[in-house]
Amino acid sequence: MKPRQWLTVGVVAVATVAALNTVPATASRPYDPTTQSLATLGQRHGLHIGTAVNATALNDATDPQYRRLASTEFSSVTAENAMKWESLEPTRGTYNWAEADQLVEFAKRNRQSVRGHVLVWHNQLPTWLTSGVADGSISKQELRELLRKHITTVVNRYKGKIWQWDVVNEAVSDPWDTPSTLHYKGFWAQNLGPGYIADAFRWARAADPKALLFYNDYNIEAFGSGNPADDKTQFVYDMARDLLRQGVPIDGVGSQGHLGTQYGNFDTLQVTAALKRFAALGLATAFTEVDVRSQLTEAVQAGAANEINPRLQASAANFSVLMKACLAVRSCLSYTVWGFTDRYSWVPDWFNDPPEGLATIYDENYQPKRAYQELKSDLIVAGPPYVLPRSTPRPRR
Ligand code: XIL
Repeated sequence: MKPRQWLTVGVVAVATVAALNTVPATASRPYDPTTQSLATLGQRHGLHIGTAVNATALNDATDPQYRRLASTEFSSVTAENAMKWESLEPTRGTYNWAEADQLVEFAKRNRQSVRGHVLVWHNQLPTWLTSGVADGSISKQELRELLRKHITTVVNRYKGKIWQWDVVNEAVSDPWDTPSTLHYKGFWAQNLGPGYIADAFRWARAADPKALLFYNDYNIEAFGSGNPADDKTQFVYDMARDLLRQGVPIDGVGSQGHLGTQYGNFDTLQVTAALKRFAALGLATAFTEVDVRSQLTEAVQAGAANEINPRLQASAANFSVLMKACLAVRSCLSYTVWGFTDRYSWVPDWFNDPPEGLATIYDENYQPKRAYQELKSDLIVAGPPYVLPRSTPRPRR
């Protein structure tokens, strides 16, 4: 072939590839994926990129940047605290919906999906409830009825507006708890027994036939020994399998993804393997609260580059591992970060002995970090045959 013929073939091939990928390209301005948002890049895979939203930041008139990034970079939002029981019903019988409603409206305005968080958890319960149980003025029977009413009321209010509900959160103990053999832990298991989990899913389903119902937990990114006595992922897997066998309407398992750079953590293939095992049960998965914190040594706090750089790089690598694993499994429906900026991250408040931080994808001044760029590049370079568009599960009856 003469050079000119080669040229023609080349042009036709490029045009065909562009058409197949439906990539908008013009002669003058070639498509540049690096200028696109995470939300837009996720769309190509059918993958929602989400963030937890802090109600105070959202309402801070002096901080428009927060709202701008929350609305443009993400296609899914989660209330960081506004849908927790203590926020919704601080006084018995009086629901305060303002902040939760506001987030749902924000999502609607910005064409975002909502992950509802959370219906049943042992933390951030209203004091009237916990103290009532402690002093015996609320009986076990009444407690169960209060839980049923709470789930029904909340799910009903947002019926049709929530894509995924975290129905039950963090029900399983950790190896460092007492006893160290993994078990159902916390307020609800202690007072109602583990049967509350199946009940909660059934009550949630009765109130919203269309939401995807999730169990959500941390430290379940990969399988360990395979023994449910010490492997939390295995314990949760067995729990989900048993719930399905009993006909409980659970649709997915959320892996929170709170990691720290000081730990061993995982490679992409380990995490992919775990997601695939949950998928093989017929369950959707999602990363629901990803952040990767680091210890803030004195040198880090003093600005020493030789201590800060490895932390930022390790953080980026861990964000990327979870993203690549999620991309590789079609039923991993969404990847949500637990806050997108260090300015409002929960990490420094919660992990302060030793102090930890640097956990999110933007710094305190909204500068994107390496972690942000790596997530973006993962979304750009992924494609067939190993990365296929998301599946669309139907809610279990
Ligand atoms: C955290 C919030 O980020 C904090 O603002 C709050 O003080 C405590 O809870 N797992 C969860 C989330 O499921 O709800 C938690 O959110 C973080 C750990």
